[in-house]
Amino acid sequence: MAIRNIVKEGDPILRKTSRPVFKFDEKLWTLLDDMKDTLDKAQGAGLAAVQVGVLRNVVIVDVDDGKGLMELINPKIIEKSKETITAVEGCLSFPGKWGAVKRPATVVVRAQNREGKWCLYKGEGLRARCFCHELDHLKGHVFTDYVLKMYSEEELNQLIEDNKRRELSIQSENSDQVEAFEKPNVLENNPENTEN
Ligand code: NI
Repeated sequence: MAIRNIVKEGDPILRKTSRPVFKFDEKLWTLLDDMKDTLDKAQGAGLAAVQVGVLRNVVIVDVDDGKGLMELINPKIIEKSKETITAVEGCLSFPGKWGAVKRPATVVVRAQNREGKWCLYKGEGLRARCFCHELDHLKGHVFTDYVLKMYSEEELNQLIEDNKRRELSIQSENSDQVEAFEKPNVLENNPENTEN
């Protein structure tokens, strides 16, 4: 297992389309293990293989909701809710950048596991957001393509304070409201931004 280099904004590989995985072998397992180490070190919520320079349909998602790490190979979104949530997210390939993005509140993803078995994965809230964000990477799309408003570090802190003052709950039904209540309420936290 090893920590791999995360490619950053401006690297043309982030715009390329990833290819399907056909071989569920040692090479894939090493990639998955390395991606987990890389994600853990970066304290992120999700990572796509393209972000470590591998153009394969592989993503991992590790949201702090008790369900643990999910490895999704050849994933496709097969269902998404009409209900949406607009929240602030970030990306390990865009350190220090934050943006409000509208995402479905719930999605169902069909994907293979590391043994090649097809499984269904349901995601709600942050996990749904994370599935959408990571699957976008496989098509060469990044969150800034969909962003409604970008936030600097300062603006994000201000938004968090404002939301706390209004005492809005994270389950806010108003999809026009931009959710952000604490720094970790974003994808793929930049390590420098996770002190609180
Ligand atoms: Ni990302």
